[in-house]
Amino acid sequence: MSCSITLKNVSYSNGSNLLFENINLSVGHEEKVAIIGSNGVGKSSLLRIIAGLEESYSGELYLFHNLIKNKKDYRNFRFEVGYLPQDISSFFLSATVIEDVMFSLRTTGTKKEEAYQKALEMLEELEISHLKDRIIYELSGGEQKIVALAGILITKPKILLLDEPTNALDESSEKRIINILNSIKKSMIIISHHKSFIEQLTPTIYKLENKKLEKN
Ligand SMILES: Nc1ncnc2c1ncn2[C@@H]1O[C@H](COP(=O)(O)OP(=O)(O)OP(=O)(O)O)[C@@H](O)[C@H]1O
Ligand SMILES: [Mg+2]
Repeated sequence: MSCSITLKNVSYSNGSNLLFENINLSVGHEEKVAIIGSNGVGKSSLLRIIAGLEESYSGELYLFHNLIKNKKDYRNFRFEVGYLPQDISSFFLSATVIEDVMFSLRTTGTKKEEAYQKALEMLEELEISHLKDRIIYELSGGEQKIVALAGILITKPKILLLDEPTNALDESSEKRIINILNSIKKSMIIISHHKSFIEQLTPTIYKLENKKLEKN
């Protein structure tokens, strides 16, 4: 199988607390995988490892069959991976919605005019055009979550890592996100506590429990 993400015997401790041990996981090309588990078991920590934000783990992380040994190795794949953190309070780098969504694309070298047009299209697709000129920090938590997702999707990463993408969303926004995630062909890892949300995205569900990751 062509794998986008592979973890081999990954173990991780937070201080003196061993969170998980010898975790193995393969996410195939355009495969969607969900991870569930109780609060504090280490789901976000595991996703941060895959997002290249934690280095103090043991075991091996591969992206597209390339062993990632350090942040320098990871840099080669930075445009291939879109990561939505659980806490998005420090996610945004611009003041307004349109500026922030454009900014994501500008970092990949896209010219200003084209970035603006694409950002408008992205807002339309996510049905948040009405938020275009709003100050991000004056938006509600759910609105901010969708804007953050717009900033990730616009760069068309091959891998999406989504940590509780719908935890602040109402039913209709959640439905919109389900439709969007189902319509795009990418490898994804989605962490969520919402069973019905996950089940509408993928049959492949893992549970992190007792320091192990097992098929649910
Ligand atoms: N920066 C930190 N410093 C110290 N401990 C931390 C830190 N971040 C997380 N932890 C601890 O690591 C453990 C795992 O946290 P993590 O956020 O990975 O859990 P989680 O499974 O995502 O939980 P939740 O469902 O609540 O989001 C928790 O016990 C948490 O208290
Ligand atoms: Mg978490």
